[in-house]
Amino acid sequence: MFIPENKLAVPSFKPEKKEEPALAASAVRIQQGGLTCSVPVKPGSTLLDAALANGCDMKYKCRKGTCGQCAVDVVAGAEFLSARNTAEQKKLGSSAKRLACQSVMSQVK
Ligand code: FES
Repeated sequence: MFIPENKLAVPSFKPEKKEEPALAASAVRIQQGGLTCSVPVKPGSTLLDAALANGCDMKYKCRKGTCGQCAVDVVAGAEFLSARNTAEQKKLGSSAKRLACQSVMSQVK
């Protein structure tokens, strides 16, 4: 049986395009008691909101910077956090901890 060349269905075997693995996103690594979380940087979000949205089951209560329940140790990525505000200075004194509800995330410029 003759099939004209322009009628042949020739399957295309293009190599499967592999996705490049995404570069590691910027993140802030925090510890609160025995809990350790890596929180992707979400500019404009508080560290608390970003942590909770990322499944970090951390303690918090007031969200106003007064109870101190959200205090965390920042293990890595402190450069993505705002400077301490008055509430943090008042609550934490000279401690190196941060209040997750008061720390606002941003990209490093
Ligand atoms: S939740 Fe109370 S100080 Fe952050």
